[in-house]
Amino acid sequence: MLKGKNVVITGAGRGIGKAIALACAKEGANLGLVARTIEELNNIKKEVEDLGTNMKVIVQSADVTNFQEVMEAFMTIHEEIGFFNGVIANAGYSRMWATHEFINEKFAEILNVNVLGVFYTFKAAYPYMKKDDKKDKARFIITGSEAYPNAPSRLTAYVASKFAVVGMQKAMSAEYKRENINFTMVLPTQIDTRLLRGKKAGDGNKPEHVLNPWDLNDYYLFLLSEKANRVDNGLIFTYDFQEVKKLLAEAPSGKKENWEVFKDFFEEKAPKSYENVKNLGKLVDFIITRS
Ligand SMILES: NC(=O)c1ccc[n+]([C@@H]2O[C@H](COP(=O)([O-])OP(=O)(O)OC[C@H]3O[C@@H](n4cnc5c(N)ncnc54)[C@H](OP(=O)(O)O)[C@@H]3O)[C@@H](O)[C@H]2O)c1
Repeated sequence: MLKGKNVVITGAGRGIGKAIALACAKEGANLGLVARTIEELNNIKKEVEDLGTNMKVIVQSADVTNFQEVMEAFMTIHEEIGFFNGVIANAGYSRMWATHEFINEKFAEILNVNVLGVFYTFKAAYPYMKKDDKKDKARFIITGSEAYPNAPSRLTAYVASKFAVVGMQKAMSAEYKRENINFTMVLPTQIDTRLLRGKKAGDGNKPEHVLNPWDLNDYYLFLLSEKANRVDNGLIFTYDFQEVKKLLAEAPSGKKENWEVFKDFFEEKAPKSYENVKNLGKLVDFIITRS
């Protein structure tokens, strides 16, 4: 699906970013992987090489809150793999405290990684994004969170950052309308990663409602694929698409072969989710063809 494409992912060392990296490699993409911990990136490079796909994997240690480092990392990646078809601003950080007790420096750090980091990622990637083909636009994808719009308590800094990036993607989508770049977001529910479960991540004892990082792969692959060439300013709320997956399993035959035949059934069973899914019927079709 992504043969010959170049995809750059921040926060690619573990968790969601790692899952996306492996999924993209299996689909034939060359990768530029960025995070601070080079050992984690090297492990993924090795995993990709073990797939035997011959894809290029360039790993770069950089802190997304340091513009110089991000710029240098992207320059090197561009030199090695060429122009970027997709950039996924995925690096993220969180901490939980009552707001009146929140440590000032931690509040700032969360905003810096989750907001400034996305800005730096875009600004540094822009010169290297492949914007010359209307039929194959460059994709800038942000990993948001269901913290938008749910705003759970004791996570004020994280909530503020994840509200902020929704605004950023909307503003950038309007601003670059005349250029061949699509701006989209994936807004996950709780995922079994270090950010959510600390050292317990991946221990096999996650609560049932918590998803595995690779459960999100379809959403990112869709956004990177040719099928999403006209999807811009689109928010994928993963809660609603997990509902799609659940109801596809329950739907009678004749009602689940494609979005056109499924949509009335889905609207009746999950009217709230329908509102967030109805403009992304192509993604439902993508999920159906991959299941
Ligand atoms: N897990 C969830 O429940 C959940 C739910 C909704 C949204 N998300 C979002 O998903 C994204 C990925 O998080 P995750 O859950 O996969 O967490 P994770 O397993 O902790 O991974 C976070 C990744 O971001 C990198 N990172 C953190 N700070 C960085 C910085 N300053 N510069 C460069 N890289 C940095 C980390 O690597 P280094 O530490 O080595 O730099 C790591 O590779 C985040 O944007 C998060 O907000 C997560």
